[in-house]
Amino acid sequence: MIGDKNVMLGRNFAMLEKRSWQKLLPIALALITITFIWKELSDLLGPPTASQAPSSPSYTLLTRDSASSTASTASRLPDDDYNKLIDLSFDFTSLNSEPCNSSVLLLVLVHSSPGNGAKRRAIRETWGRRDADVRLVFAVGGVEEAASRRSLDAEQRLHGDLVQGSFLDSYRNLTYKHVMGLKYFVYHCPQAKYVLKTDDDVFVNMPSMKNFLRYDLSPYGVGGGLFCTPRYNSLVLRSYRSKWRVSFSEYPEKFYPTYCPGWTLLYSPDVALGLYKEAQISEYFWIDDIHLTGTLTRRLNVTHTDIERLVLSDNKVYYIFYYPAGEVAPFLYGRELNEGQIRALWGYVVKREAPKFIFRKFG
Ligand SMILES: *[C@@H]1O[C@H](CO)[C@@H](O)[C@H](O)[C@H]1NC(C)=O
Ligand SMILES: *[C@@H]1O[C@H](CO)[C@@H](O)[C@H](O)[C@H]1NC(C)=O
Ligand SMILES: *[C@@H]1O[C@H](CO)[C@@H](O)[C@H](O)[C@H]1NC(C)=O
Repeated sequence: MIGDKNVMLGRNFAMLEKRSWQKLLPIALALITITFIWKELSDLLGPPTASQAPSSPSYTLLTRDSASSTASTASRLPDDDYNKLIDLSFDFTSLNSEPCNSSVLLLVLVHSSPGNGAKRRAIRETWGRRDADVRLVFAVGGVEEAASRRSLDAEQRLHGDLVQGSFLDSYRNLTYKHVMGLKYFVYHCPQAKYVLKTDDDVFVNMPSMKNFLRYDLSPYGVGGGLFCTPRYNSLVLRSYRSKWRVSFSEYPEKFYPTYCPGWTLLYSPDVALGLYKEAQISEYFWIDDIHLTGTLTRRLNVTHTDIERLVLSDNKVYYIFYYPAGEVAPFLYGRELNEGQIRALWGYVVKREAPKFIFRKFG
């Protein structure tokens, strides 16, 4: 009996040992693989370059004397430029009703899909409210369906804040939409001191944004500015499963240049105009933020200024949503939000005084 027990114990022990080895082996293998991949990747990417962490600001603050309007520059564009959009013949099929004037501090171009009426409504009722300092328009493309067209027309009659172009609204046409927004700035709102391109699921803390532009930057605008959240060394996606798959003929290189995701791009007028002119004479590439803020920005030697720390984290969005009386650090943006979250953030913002000079040390 005892012998049997010992044999049993011994066998159990051996099994145990075998089992723990079976468990450990994959972990060890995984560790080796991770170390290997890490090493390969860091070799591939190389050490961080100086351009990743600019120590001095790459933009200049304008003063009353140095401020010059882009207003006169439209006249220096080719005659056929207005009715051309990169490689399409173009016209605005619907334009917002109010003209801009010199009191416009910020022009906001919100990319929106024709069907996103509820998102546009949430923005109009919250951070995108009428404001003499801000001109906000929604950029939409054309729709084929008659019913959608009629409802967009009705929306335009009611709010007059749509800018619609004569190209089909689709995600492969987003670069047309982006350049149309810049065209709107160049021809219809060149007085703006700053241009913000954003999306309809974004919250812009407008009171803080206005203070940021006036006090941390300059009420006369800046030169050479592109404020965004840069992405470095992004791989070009080649997988057929990816919505963002790009073929070798569309983009042959392995990495994209440093670029900024398009949900928050704050352009100074000279950069917006420079990118517009460059886009008009360049090849079409359908991922708009990579094309405009990567490829073309590099061509123009414009440097990105990182404002990632002014973006609200997901955790803080939830925090404000569930504890509206709580406090979070000053912020300019929230992203990937639904209408309820946008309204909650607005409720939070209007109950507090917008900070002044809070980002002073920034730049
Ligand atoms: C600019 O237009 C707004 C309304 O669109 C108006 O309230 C404001 O007085 C105008 N400012 C100037 C300087 O004309
Ligand atoms: C982009 O818009 C153009 C002009 O309306 C249209 O001919 C083309 O089919 C659209 N492309 C896509 C992928 O929807
Ligand atoms: C960008 O910089 C490069 C190198 O310094 C220079 O050759 C090129 O002319 C510049 N391009 C523009 C548009 O300023």
